[in-house]
Amino acid sequence: MEHVFCVVETLSKAFSQISELLGIQWAPMNIPMSRRLQTLAAFFWIYLILLGEALSIYLFIQLVYSRFWWVGILYGVWMLNDIEICNRGGRASEWVRNWTWWYYLRDYFPIKLVKTVDLDPSKNYLFACFPHGVISLGAFGNFCTNATGFQKLFPGMTCHLITLGGHFLVPFFRDLALALGVCSSSQESLMHLLDSKKYQGNCASMIIGGAAEALDAHPKEYKVILNRRKGFIRVAMKSGASLVPVFSFGETDLFHPPSNPENSLLRRVQEKVRQVTGVSPMFPMGRGMFQYSYGVLPVRSPVTTVVGAPLEVKKNLEPTSEEIDAVHAEFSERLATLFETEKVKYLKYHEEAKLVIT
Ligand SMILES: *[C@@H]1O[C@H](CO)[C@@H](O)[C@H](O)[C@H]1NC(C)=O
Ligand SMILES: *[C@@H]1O[C@H](CO)[C@@H](O)[C@H](O)[C@H]1NC(C)=O
Repeated sequence: MEHVFCVVETLSKAFSQISELLGIQWAPMNIPMSRRLQTLAAFFWIYLILLGEALSIYLFIQLVYSRFWWVGILYGVWMLNDIEICNRGGRASEWVRNWTWWYYLRDYFPIKLVKTVDLDPSKNYLFACFPHGVISLGAFGNFCTNATGFQKLFPGMTCHLITLGGHFLVPFFRDLALALGVCSSSQESLMHLLDSKKYQGNCASMIIGGAAEALDAHPKEYKVILNRRKGFIRVAMKSGASLVPVFSFGETDLFHPPSNPENSLLRRVQEKVRQVTGVSPMFPMGRGMFQYSYGVLPVRSPVTTVVGAPLEVKKNLEPTSEEIDAVHAEFSERLATLFETEKVKYLKYHEEAKLVIT
């Protein structure tokens, strides 16, 4: 018996010494069940975002080469037949958007949705969301799920997150994205969602900076890409939808990626890969499931998405570049004002928080 104790003691000593050496800080053992479930929800979510598409493709290939190959073929035929749906308003499922998973995910950080004014459910809106952050958690939690009360906050309105059309070519993964209300970023898709003859109370939420902005996601920094982004202004003008500045405070605090200033070697490699593949190579360095030092799990840090006041846009089917620039300038000013007036409420470090628009 004594030998066993001795061994256990030696092992546990060695364990804590190794931990110290590697700088690992372990999570305590006595964590309440609800918090464990939140961590589990965040864990599955981050792996869904990081590996979901690769896994879906792998499963599809496995299926096609299995005994049930005909299921794969049938699915493939159906998918090809269905390929345009992402440009035609998608296929949101209120059931999927209300999964308990999203409620635990919300509470992990927590994620909150805040409105500054009411929106008119007889109109359509283009939500221009900033910043992208590493993974756009605020946009996901608030606009793909019902967990933060979008329906309650904006009665009569429906929300669609906008993403690159390529995601809708991935078998299985596309079905989940569609069920969450996600639609393609093509011109056709946006004009469809914002068409006042087809819909009332539709919101299309676009993350304007896109993957390029993700490279600038560092804690306490808010560097957004807007000056060269004009396409969304054109879409708002052509459809007559109002432009709504949306800002997620805390979005950049979820990970601590390595420093990559402009012209650093890492940054140049990242930009090169992005130019070639369209995907930003990022380092989602957060915490782990049972320790706080290493891993891809985002840290528990609040994300508050504030929906600003809409900027009315006059419908104009053929806007000139001067007209676009005028709306763009007005929108940029509104975004900067939204950041300045709201940061005090949602950022502990608001005094040092600056919005840098590039
Ligand atoms: C959505 O989920 C919430 C929380 O789990 C639950 O209270 C609510 O009843 C659900 N709504 C519907 C329509 O099932
Ligand atoms: C959405 O969430 C609200 C609570 O905020 C709940 O009352 C409602 O039933 C949910 N809607 C759906 C369709 O699940």
